[in-house]
Amino acid sequence: MLNIYGKYAPMLDNLLNKMLDRFEQLNKDYETTHHERLYEHLRGRVKSEASMEDKCRRKNLPLTPESALRSNRDSVGLRVVCNFIDDIYTCIDYIKSWDDVSVYREKDYITNAKPNGYRSYHMILDVTVPDEDVHGNTPGHYFVEIQLRTIAMDTWASLEHEMKYKHQIKNPEMIGRELKRVADELASCDVSMQTIRQLIREED
Ligand code: GTP
Ligand code: MG
Repeated sequence: MLNIYGKYAPMLDNLLNKMLDRFEQLNKDYETTHHERLYEHLRGRVKSEASMEDKCRRKNLPLTPESALRSNRDSVGLRVVCNFIDDIYTCIDYIKSWDDVSVYREKDYITNAKPNGYRSYHMILDVTVPDEDVHGNTPGHYFVEIQLRTIAMDTWASLEHEMKYKHQIKNPEMIGRELKRVADELASCDVSMQTIRQLIREED
């Protein structure tokens, strides 16, 4: 039986839906005032109990809700995919303005790309919800992981992820080098795209 989330499982679904609704409303409001979308698309998931159990086993954590919801902080995850880099930072400002959300941790892998070329902005949010949490507090506190990326960064991350989990790759060094090269090219395109948008805006 897989139920590492225990009685908290329904709360995670509620929390994911609340966050998805929040982002969708943000995009609607933003479009009304700015006549363009803040992000291109959004994905979200509650990590399956099987994956969470595997992750806890890998980290030698007991298979408990405490491990799943406190030691790990990505049981609820959202990915916000933007057209332009500066939209990502605008989005981050909105997230930080939400009353029931505080930033537990953030990593800017856009300004500081990982050595393999991975780029994204990562946030771990501490979200206040009406339900009880794993420490018995009501209102409760739950972690939510947000990854913000451009379309180019997202495409690259999918390809790199595929290669990471394909173990029979013949020449991983060469593939890694090529992926890094492409990551840097895409990053340069993201900057150019943003510059072009700025130029178009200045024409008005
Ligand atoms: P966990 O991996 O969640 O235990 O925490 P961490 O502290 O290592 O977090 P980090 O912010 O580095 O990565 C969290 C998530 O970001 C991962 O689960 C992936 O979804 C994504 N990610 C991080 N690095 C890479 C990378 O090099 N390639 C790809 N494709 N995804 C990455
Ligand atoms: Mg990791």
